[in-house]
Amino acid sequence: MNGVQPAAAASGVALFGATGYAGREAARLIATHPAFRLAAVFGGPERVGLPLAAIHPALRGLTDARCEALPENGRAGALAGDLAARGVRFALLATPEAASMRMAPPLIAAGLRVVDLSGAFRLDGPDAFADWYGADHEAPALFDHAVYGLAEWRRAAIAAADLVANPGCYPTAALLAILPLRRAGLIDSAAPVVVHAVSGVSGAGRRLREDLLFCEVEGSVRPYGLPRHRHLAEIARLADLAPGDGLIFIPHLAPFDRGLIGSVSLRLAPGAGPIEIAAAFAAAYAGAPFVRALGDGPLPSTGDVRGTNTCALGWTAVPGGRHLVVHAVIDNLIKGAAGQAVQNLNLMAGRPEDEGLPR
Ligand SMILES: NC(=O)c1ccc[n+]([C@@H]2O[C@H](COP(=O)([O-])OP(=O)(O)OC[C@H]3O[C@@H](n4cnc5c(N)ncnc54)[C@H](OP(=O)(O)O)[C@@H]3O)[C@@H](O)[C@H]2O)c1
Repeated sequence: MNGVQPAAAASGVALFGATGYAGREAARLIATHPAFRLAAVFGGPERVGLPLAAIHPALRGLTDARCEALPENGRAGALAGDLAARGVRFALLATPEAASMRMAPPLIAAGLRVVDLSGAFRLDGPDAFADWYGADHEAPALFDHAVYGLAEWRRAAIAAADLVANPGCYPTAALLAILPLRRAGLIDSAAPVVVHAVSGVSGAGRRLREDLLFCEVEGSVRPYGLPRHRHLAEIARLADLAPGDGLIFIPHLAPFDRGLIGSVSLRLAPGAGPIEIAAAFAAAYAGAPFVRALGDGPLPSTGDVRGTNTCALGWTAVPGGRHLVVHAVIDNLIKGAAGQAVQNLNLMAGRPEDEGLPR
């Protein structure tokens, strides 16, 4: 028996990549959600049969689900059909791009609606994917279906979508900071927007990597992924800025487990002052349950939003008045991944956007 009992009419969700970090948070959110139930969980091929709570001790008492078998080559359609027959309506893919590209088409063909946390469907199409991810796309036809899942900016399209491309963690923070000013015409596009960002180590996932061992990351901050981090393309696409001349992205890895700050510096358009800036954020996020536009007072820090689906925004005018720095903080595993995915599931299922999500 699950420790938490969902309502009888709760919608079934199949969670792929449940054994990873984003998967752990998604499992917790779905298992405790009043309108969803964790109907099936999957890890990699070596996890079949294992209780999810044995892999993530934090889930003990929340779920007794065991990892199911992934489909063998060419058998994904049968698994998708089986899930549909079991009444599963949604699939959440917390998997690497290659696995998401393989699973999304049969799941959608079987009638499930999919939220993908990977970068497989976030860019313009297969050419952009090949350019930035260095691999051919295995499901190019699905780009026509994919809706970019930044909930605050795409609510209606997400609600109707059968495939939502959940945003990356850095793009979530950067875009929530940039878009209000960009849409209000307050950015001088003659100067590049610079996103200087810092993430905790869970942003790289749970798989073993030598450069992410404790002794490699503790006590040190390092830039990485330059000059062509994949999230540069994603931020540029959504903000309609050219990578390089229009947008510079400088990610850093820092020695904490979770949390992310994006500090966005930009030149203001003539006439853009404190009143216009505050009005742009207020208009963009009126009624948005998970964005707190805090203004130009004390600046937010990652600890303020740890474990929540909140993005807190604060801004500072640079002396001289022509430049602004906007700071966006999120928990990379919640608003940057699993929480935003559940926010999108809520919209797709016609539930309140903030249902079952911590603020
Ligand atoms: N971490 C973040 O902050 C964050 C933020 C936004 C988006 N994302 C995206 O979310 C996805 C998951 O990220 P993560 O950080 O949770 O990674 P992770 O901790 O490495 O977990 C990856 C999950 O995918 C499974 N998996 C790996 N290869 C697979 C395959 N070929 N077929 C099926 N399942 C496979 C893994 O299973 P095993 O455990 O058995 O290996 C694990 O459950 C990635 O696409 C990532 O880019 C992550």
